[in-house]
This record gives sequence, structure tokens and C-alpha cells, in this order.
Amino acid sequence: HPLHQLENLFHFAKYATLADGFLLPKDVTTAEYIDSLEDFEIRDSDVFVATFPKSGTVWSQNILSLIYHEGHRDGTENINVIDRVPWLEYNINNMDYVNRPSPRLFVTHLPHNLVPRDLRNRRGKVIYVARNPKDVVVSYFHYSRLAAKLETISDFNILLERFLAGKVVSGSWLDHIGGWFTHRDDFNILFLTFEEMKKDLRGAVLKICKFLGKQLTENELDTVVEMASFDNMKWDARANYENMPESFLEQGKGHFLRKGTIGDWKNTMTVAQSERFDSVFKEKMKELPFKFIWDI
Ligand code: A3P
Repeated sequence: HPLHQLENLFHFAKYATLADGFLLPKDVTTAEYIDSLEDFEIRDSDVFVATFPKSGTVWSQNILSLIYHEGHRDGTENINVIDRVPWLEYNINNMDYVNRPSPRLFVTHLPHNLVPRDLRNRRGKVIYVARNPKDVVVSYFHYSRLAAKLETISDFNILLERFLAGKVVSGSWLDHIGGWFTHRDDFNILFLTFEEMKKDLRGAVLKICKFLGKQLTENELDTVVEMASFDNMKWDARANYENMPESFLEQGKGHFLRKGTIGDWKNTMTVAQSERFDSVFKEKMKELPFKFIWDI
């Protein structure tokens, strides 16, 4: 499918395009609000999770929140993760971000050049989580069925072409990860992968703690790891977005926590689709100076 033919099928009615082709759901935020974030003052104690969608965002939001509450979550039991670690660019619950008490935890899908200026000057901290893009596109495909703000694309071939062309929400995966990585020296930043979290969650939590200068006891660490497991999060409505309004997530159509595995792309992509993906992405991915562990 050459993309220009596909463009006729989709008019991106739900999306707005920002600078550099970055696509956002239209009715959740505005270009003006995103522009205003440039001047949003960052505190040294602020921590951001940054991801391309479907790369382990909710998982990382939970881990961060659990670390800051030493695993026990005292006082946060009844607060949804979206309010403990809110979206920078989608302030859907109209929180007063400026006056939130420290430490302020945030999550964002923004590219490196659209986040607050202070962050790009090494104030605050960023944890960037990346995932095998083949698993990302497959996860996105399933998610688009329940995400009311996304176009549902029922033909995987079409979504694949859109993804390869950077015409999905958050734009090009390569540009996103490439931008954050190339500019890593501008930030206090830790890079992690979904795959290393999956293979050794405890090790990943320890890495995050070290980066944040947080010292947890063995017990607290055990609790964070246990509560951040797929099974625990799957049944915890405050941790898995099941309390999101229907206007965001049509819960009857599936679960945000779907499978949570490595390599599920093999169950959706045909050999031809995988080869098509490789022909567009593989060489470009080699240019990323990022050490990927996702083929093991
Ligand atoms: P799948 O669709 O492959 O299952 P995001 O939060 O960035 O939108 O990413 C969602 C993906 O992360 C989904 O992938 C979801 O199942 C997975 N995920 C969320 N929490 C997880 C956990 N605790 N362990 C493993 N995977 C998790």
C-alpha cells in the first residue's frame, strides 16, 4: 500500500499535527497548550516518564508512583495512577500542575523538543522507556479498538503503513526515540527498555531507584516489584486505566493491560509484513546508538 493511496481512506479527522509531523488527538489538548509548556517551570525534584505510546507507559507510571510511596502506597490507595502521575500534555482532570507539591511525577509522549525548556537544560529527571517497535505497532493496533480518541484501524496492513510513515499518534517512532537519544546530554535521563523490565523487573526498579537517589529497603523493593507485576496491575483498577471515562476508553472492547509480553508481534504480523517492516526500519534502527535487547 503506497501511503498516498491510504491517505484517501483516512483524513486524520481525530488528529492535529504539530511541528515536525507530531500527531495528537484533537479534543484532548491544544497546540496552544503544548506551546505554553515551553515555559513550564521545572523543579529539580520533578520526574518525567517519557515514552512513545504502547511502550510500557502505564507500567512505568505505576513503578514510579510505587517507588515514591516506598511500595506501600499509603494515602494513594484510592487515587488513580493518572492522578498520581498525570500526563503533561493532556491535563484531562484539570489539575493545578504548577502548585502540585513536590516531588511532582509526570508522564509524557512528547518528543524531546516540545517538553519544557528547563527539562532540556538538565533540571528535573527523565526516564525514557523504549520497546521493540514491532510489539509497539501490534499493541497500538489492538489498543486502537478501545481508545476512543484514536482512529480504529481494523486492517493491520493499513496501520502498519501508517506506523512506518509516522502517521500514528505521536508521529514517527524512529524520530521519537532518535530525538530523545541524540539529545540525551541535554537531559538528566535514564534509558530503559520494556524488555529489560520484563526480564528483570527487580533489576529495572533498582536502576530507577539509583537514578532517582531513592533507597528502598529489601521489603519495600519486593513490594514494588510485586505490585508492578502484570497480574497485579491487571486486577487493580487504579493501576490499569479501567477507571478512565468511556469517552477515553471503551472498556467493553478490551483491556488496556492486554498481554504484556515480549514478541507478541509474531502472532499478528505475517512474514511478509515483518519483512516489509524490516525493509523500512532495520537500517535506520542501526543508526540509533541505542543498545536494543529485544531480539533475544
Ligand atoms: P500489550 O498490548 O502488548 O499487552 P502503554 O502503557 O505505553 O500504552 O503500553 C501498553 C502495553 O504495556 C500493553 O502491551 C500492556 O499490556 C503492557 N503493560 C502494561 N503494564 C504491564 C506490566 N505490568 N507488565 C507487562 N506489560 C505491561
